[in-house]
Amino acid sequence: MSNLGEITGISGPVVKAKSDLAIRMFEVAHVGRDELLGEVIRILGNNIFIQVYEDTSGLCTGEPVYFTGSLLQLDLGPGLLGSVLDGIGRPLTRLGEEGIFLKKGSHASPLDPDRKWQFFPSVEVGSLVGPGSIIGNMPETSFLNNRIMVPPDVSKGTIRSIASPGEYTVSDELCVLDNGYVIKATQTWEVRQPRPVMMRLPFDQPLITGQRVLDTLFPLALGGAAVMPGGFGTGKTVTQQSLAKWCNADIIVYIGCGERGNEMTEVLEEFPVLSDPYHDVPLMERMILIANTSNMPVAAREASIYLGMTIAEYYRDMGYNVAIMADSTSRWAEALREIGGRLEEMPGEEGYPAYLGTRLAQYYERAGRVKNMGEPVRNGSVSVINAVSPAGGDFSEPVTQSSLRLSGVFWGLDKRLAQQRHFPAINWQQSYSLFEDTLDHFFSSRLGPEWKFLKSYLKDMLERERILKDLVQLVGRDGLSEQDKWLLELVEILKVVYLQQNAFSDVDAFCSLDKQKQLLLILKRLDDVVQVKLEAGLIYDQISSIPFRIDLLKLRDLDQPELESKGKYWLDKLQHQLQDMVVFK
Ligand SMILES: Nc1ncnc2c1ncn2[C@@H]1O[C@H](COP(=O)(O)OP(=O)(O)OP(=O)(O)O)[C@@H](O)[C@H]1O
Ligand SMILES: [Mg+2]
Repeated sequence: MSNLGEITGISGPVVKAKSDLAIRMFEVAHVGRDELLGEVIRILGNNIFIQVYEDTSGLCTGEPVYFTGSLLQLDLGPGLLGSVLDGIGRPLTRLGEEGIFLKKGSHASPLDPDRKWQFFPSVEVGSLVGPGSIIGNMPETSFLNNRIMVPPDVSKGTIRSIASPGEYTVSDELCVLDNGYVIKATQTWEVRQPRPVMMRLPFDQPLITGQRVLDTLFPLALGGAAVMPGGFGTGKTVTQQSLAKWCNADIIVYIGCGERGNEMTEVLEEFPVLSDPYHDVPLMERMILIANTSNMPVAAREASIYLGMTIAEYYRDMGYNVAIMADSTSRWAEALREIGGRLEEMPGEEGYPAYLGTRLAQYYERAGRVKNMGEPVRNGSVSVINAVSPAGGDFSEPVTQSSLRLSGVFWGLDKRLAQQRHFPAINWQQSYSLFEDTLDHFFSSRLGPEWKFLKSYLKDMLERERILKDLVQLVGRDGLSEQDKWLLELVEILKVVYLQQNAFSDVDAFCSLDKQKQLLLILKRLDDVVQVKLEAGLIYDQISSIPFRIDLLKLRDLDQPELESKGKYWLDKLQHQLQDMVVFK
């Protein structure tokens, strides 16, 4: 074979080969007799360095290397939804039967070649189509249609023939254009290359997460990127999984990137039995899982996030809102560091390669809400939610810092809050969202003008408590006014009842926007009622005898309409209780 090279050195996942051919950077190579999949990452004269995505033990110098001439690419088509792929897009279908490790060198496409899908054409012979135009639909799950599109890299043409409704495999010919191009349900795309869009749209719609602290205080826009750094055990995985379950994206791409294998198993066991909150079908129907856990080859971790992003962009192009989650970016960066070390590159900060920021940007820049190419006119989005696990919870380290520069939302997880079992352990003083202003219009039209007021009220209370706590250090709690004593109690209530949310609760794991507003309204009214009484002369110790927290936690577990009526009843009862208290003046 002409495009052969020969292995001259092996260092873990990095293989050095000799070849006299013209080799492309990032070209895919099949390495050794087992044809392990790899990618060219450095070319020095006729010395070629390849990162191999599979276990290299047993590989020997002198074995052949076959250079394919093409870059790392992925087959996109119906059947991806509900599937579990490894870091380089091979299906892990027989999961559980034969373990999640594939035979070395297997090069399977993620799409089932034999499965037949119903096709419904939506264009006629003679219609003009261009890149991104939809030519028909294939129902992929019980509620999601795979929209068969003209691939983005195909030029305009008129339809010469189109398949009639019926059953087709992913490789059957569905449509032929007058320029001779054949459209099938499958399209192939290079994973490191962003898929083109018509134009970018403003961030004016939220990704509703159903988590009160996130939606109320630090909302993420559709198409935005959020970074969630947190030390060991602060709740990164649980929070990401909650978002995967409850957020209002149409499709979720979940990448288990270098984290523990059993966490992925949890997802695989739990998600098929849980229902999608928006469609009453198994959650797995809107998920694509990419499993590249800590016990899998390290180099594939590097590719896995671009692979996930390519799948996300493919569904975005159909007009869907997709959320992509990677747990965790730090393990991905460690893979970069390991490969960089083996290449003997000059290390940058904390040993990470100098191009860490550039590589991260290549991923984050692919997020966005966009107008898609082609007809009919449609919009889609890819929102990113990435966990980062900085060693020792130190957010000043390079992976956290580089990620923050590229994203609009920072959900900082706090070790101290996690130790106090305050979950989600989002630190409300550190976290921020840059989308608050652009989302203002959406929230005020959806929840009314009072939402903004309630939100600032919550922020204001949290800030006032912070200042007051400093004062308590100086004067002690007894030196505070009755109003201030109540403020400290009220903020504790706000934290327990509003900011905390148990991801494992049947009722409270998801909180709708209407319920968030109702709950906040009740808490604000509670404050109003007590304030009036404090002004009239009641002292804090009298008020503190009322079991606010227990009552409110019971209310929180109610559905929205019941919460409204029971909340009103509880506030009326409270008012009477306070009325009966004697004022000592
Ligand atoms: N929202 C939540 N509700 C209830 N419990 C939670 C929540 N978030 C986290 N926890 C608790 O915290 C524990 C640790 O969470 P998790 O495994 O998500 O942490 P992590 O940050 O991913 O840790 P690691 O760094 O080890 O990956 C969970 O097992 C759970 O008990
Ligand atoms: Mg985790």
